[in-house]
Amino acid sequence: MTQVISENRHLAGARNAQSKEACMKLYDEWAASYNTDLADASQNYMAPILTAQTAIQATISNEKPPTILDAGCGTGLVGEALAKAGFAMAIDGADLSPPMLKIAEDTGVYRNLMLADLTQPLSAPDETYDIITCCGTFTRGHVGPDPALREFVRLLKKGGVIVATVLQEIWVTGGYKAEVEKLAAEGLASVVSAEVKDYRKGAGDKATFLVLRKTSS
Ligand SMILES: C[S@@+](CC[C@H](N)C(=O)[O-])C[C@H]1O[C@@H](n2cnc3c(N)ncnc32)[C@H](O)[C@@H]1O
Repeated sequence: MTQVISENRHLAGARNAQSKEACMKLYDEWAASYNTDLADASQNYMAPILTAQTAIQATISNEKPPTILDAGCGTGLVGEALAKAGFAMAIDGADLSPPMLKIAEDTGVYRNLMLADLTQPLSAPDETYDIITCCGTFTRGHVGPDPALREFVRLLKKGGVIVATVLQEIWVTGGYKAEVEKLAAEGLASVVSAEVKDYRKGAGDKATFLVLRKTSS
């Protein structure tokens, strides 16, 4: 049986974006229909739910609800999945696109939402968060591994985890695997898991679901 591969016009444009400005413009235009487009059975975008489930599983039980940064939060699908799972938390979101952030705000699940560029050093202080999720943003035409992964490690408390998807086709060629190995070699973080899973099933996309734990302050 032949699988019907369906490509989304906006996503194809975003992945081929030649600059940060072009990527942002695309998401500004796509924001209003993003959720309905990706919920469509032809896309079957399961990454936000898998990211939320992985974050919940990787969390060390704590007396206090964890503080989470959802980096590249978009319209807030990861925050909504965490909230639907009944996960008690304080969740902040960061993204480059104001219209995407507006929709995230309307979900009501985020404590703070910030306009931020993940290709640059971030303004939050060291050791702010217990968990950082980054779903769908380490992909072609979006955000590379450096400085984002090192910045995420800086923002985590010791023992905290990054749960990130990296589009499978760029895990090695895009330098993500090498940057993770570098952070591990420097004793800053250790890989809990890096499993390849379905990501946008309708389009045949797969991603590495990376779980990285901060090991030193
Ligand atoms: C495919 S969407 C993923 C959104 C959400 N996490 C999800 O899974 O639905 C990629 C997101 O990355 C954001 N983005 C792209 N480049 C960025 C950058 N340099 N800094 C911050 N966010 C960026 C886009 O605005 C968009 O919201």
